[in-house]
Amino acid sequence: MDIDSKFIVPDHVAIIMDGNGRWATGRGMPRGFGHKKGAEAFRRTVDACIEMSVPFVTFYAFSTENWKRPKSEINILFDLFESYLDEFADIHKRNARIIFIGDIGALSEKLVNKINDCVRLTENNTGTAVTIAVNYGGHAEIVNAVKGIIIDELTFSDIDERVFERYLYTAELPPVDLLIRTGGDKRVSNFLLWQLAYAELVFLDVFWPDFTKEDLIEAFRRYSTKERRFGSIKSK
Ligand code: IPE
Ligand code: IPE
Ligand code: MG
Repeated sequence: MDIDSKFIVPDHVAIIMDGNGRWATGRGMPRGFGHKKGAEAFRRTVDACIEMSVPFVTFYAFSTENWKRPKSEINILFDLFESYLDEFADIHKRNARIIFIGDIGALSEKLVNKINDCVRLTENNTGTAVTIAVNYGGHAEIVNAVKGIIIDELTFSDIDERVFERYLYTAELPPVDLLIRTGGDKRVSNFLLWQLAYAELVFLDVFWPDFTKEDLIEAFRRYSTKERRFGSIKSK
């Protein structure tokens, strides 16, 4: 952990980017406009994490449940997502690594190819690891892990918590230290259910399109005040 005089930078920050739709409708604008502004907030936050040398940051971009939305909104989200992938050379220049989690194989072939290009381009970078959860669900992830274990024919005595974790989408990521959710709701919406076990939870009322580096730092400050006991007792 990097310790600054004012706050601790967590090793792994996870962010539920919520409130795009309400941000837009509150302004009399279509929800898609909120997503466009949300994509800008995402870029800003990736930059802030790189600047502050956050080792791991994971963004919830599209859940397995978000397919319930109107097709038109889903198309806007995936178009924005695709245009972001086109800009990845820039992230690469900053030594950041891009990782995707979720059922990526179910997405369009064009998108899967772009995702794979991005991952390959940045896989040897040593800076901030930016993980994007797309078509991600915590339940689906756990079921997928069980299937992987069955495919590999592991037996009863082969399995423990560490082995199980290797079958999750997040096999190469550490546990989440800090979860931030914008938009005012206090729930995890099927995000990183296993990985959040001992995360500190920070819920902010700000809608995602308005999220700034200051809000990120505010979350880091709140995180810094917590004593993490992991089931143990207060350290002296
Ligand atoms: C988050 O904003 C973006 C996604 C879930 C993809 P929302 O679209 O959920 O915005 P609200 O919560 O309806 O305001
Ligand atoms: C969580 O937001 C999913 C993402 C941010 C991608 P939702 O807007 O889908 O969550 P609910 O429906 O309010 O729980
Ligand atoms: Mg929402």
